[in-house]
Order: sequence, then C-alpha cells, then structure tokens
Amino acid sequence: MQLPKDKTAIVTRHNKVVYDCGDTVAKVFNATKPSSDIVNEALNLTRAEQAGINVPELIEVGKSGNNWAILTKKVEGKTLRQLMSEDPEKVDEYLKQLIELELDVHAHRAPLMNRQKDKYARMIADASDILDEAQRYELLMRLDGMPNHIKLCHGDFVPSNIIIPDEEGAKPVIVDWAHATQGNGGADCAITYLHLMLNGEQDIAERYLHLYCERQGCTVNYVQGWMSIVAGAELARGRVAEHDYLLSMVDVVDYV
Ligand SMILES: Nc1ncnc2c1ncn2[C@@H]1O[C@H](COP(=O)(O)OP(=O)(O)OP(=O)(O)O)[C@@H](O)[C@H]1O
Ligand SMILES: [Mg+2]
Repeated sequence: MQLPKDKTAIVTRHNKVVYDCGDTVAKVFNATKPSSDIVNEALNLTRAEQAGINVPELIEVGKSGNNWAILTKKVEGKTLRQLMSEDPEKVDEYLKQLIELELDVHAHRAPLMNRQKDKYARMIADASDILDEAQRYELLMRLDGMPNHIKLCHGDFVPSNIIIPDEEGAKPVIVDWAHATQGNGGADCAITYLHLMLNGEQDIAERYLHLYCERQGCTVNYVQGWMSIVAGAELARGRVAEHDYLLSMVDVVDYV
C-alpha cells in the first residue's frame, strides 16, 4: 500500500497512527501489532456493513512498509467528539444522538461476529499478571451469569467513533470496529461509560449512563452489573495509565 507523502496524522497513539490521505484514511499499526488483529478489525468492519450498519467503505488491508494498515474511504464531516467540544451546551443533544445510534447498532444481528462472552472470558484470563486468581474467578463467574444476548455490539461506542457527515441528510458513519462482538448491549453501555470516565469526562459519563438507561428502559444497576467485568477485560489491554481506576472498578463487589 503506497500512502501519499503529504498525508497528515489525525491521531497518534502508542500502537498506531491514523492518517488523512486525501480521499482515504489509513490506520497504520506499529510493527509489533499482530496481523490477525488487523485482519480481524477489517473483518468486523465488513461484517457490520453486511449487517446493515453505515460504516466507511473498506478500500484495502495491506502493508505500508513493515506496518500493517487498513485503508477506508474518508468521510467528510465531524465526529460527535468534535461537535461536543465545539458546542458544550448541546452535549445532551449529542449524547441522545449517540444513544439512538448505539441502540440501532444493537438492533442489528451479525451471526458470524465473535461472541462477547468468549472474548471477555479470554481477556480476563489473560490479565493474570494484574488480577489474582480469586479476582479472575469472581469476574468469570459474574460473566457466566450474565444474560446471553446476540446483539451486534461495537465495543468502543464513544463520540470520536461517530462521524456526522457534512453532506446534508447523509446518515452518521460508525468507525473503529476493532472491538466488535455479538452479545449484551448492557456491556457496550458499560464500556462507553468507562471510556468517558477514563477520558476525564465524569459529568458526561454519568449523564450518558442515565440517558441510556432511560431510553433503553433498563436500570442503572443492570448496566453496573457489567462494569466490573468490562473493567477487568480492559486491564488485559495493558492500559497502564488507567490501571488504578480500572482496578477500583473490578473490586466493586455488588451493585444489586
Ligand atoms: N473513514 C474515515 N473517515 C473520516 N475520518 C476517519 C475515518 N476513519 C477514522 N477517522 C478519524 O480518525 C480517528 C481515529 O480512527 P479510529 O477511531 O479508527 O482509531 P482509534 O480510535 O485510534 O482506534 P482504537 O479505538 O482501536 O484505539 C477517528 O476518531 C476519526 O476522527
Ligand atoms: Mg476511535
């Protein structure tokens, strides 16, 4: 894959850089990222598209030098994250839009997508250097007892992953399908809440949780039941900076 010389970085993270390449966007991973993760993300994107979700068109999966990369068609627009920062008075309105889109994703089915419970069980088991055996056992028991659903779950449904196109009347586009599974929408909501909290947006996180439960018709306790499980799974991602907060969420014993 040949990327243009005049590309500009949209975001730079410890394991990847996302570039604006003009008509396309290239997500270029560092050389240590396993190729199976990149292929899985691209596969999830295409499975979500097949399920009927509005995602950016996949152009290519390949190598840029030594690095694996995913190339998608660029959507001209702003993310809900940008819109929220530009107009903080409209945060509630944008959160409601986020929730409608999230519930719409949950209303879709993708029978070939990985199973959420399998994924979280694997991640919790992998966090053996951070969680002791008793903590892992407790989380795995809780996970096992959660209701089995087959909703399409994005797994990182945060405002920066929703693009509102500039084009009048065009539908919002959902990016970043690396963590998608089929499973329980309550887990997806718990992840969004955690990521907002980890982003230092406590007020927005609480507001989001409240609005989500109101719209979905479930209790906050129901979503909170997932909180320790998803926090335990997130620890397996080696989130060093967020380690203490995630661990405090794991240790919250009973919400009901
Ligand atoms: N096809 C696209 N068109 C326009 N902008 C895009 C497109 N894909 C990604 N972006 C922009 O790049 C940003 C980062 O991309 P993406 O969300 O895929 O990576 P990431 O958040 O680093 O991934 P992860 O959550 O897996 O760490 C998005 O928030 C969005 O602003
Ligand atoms: Mg993202």
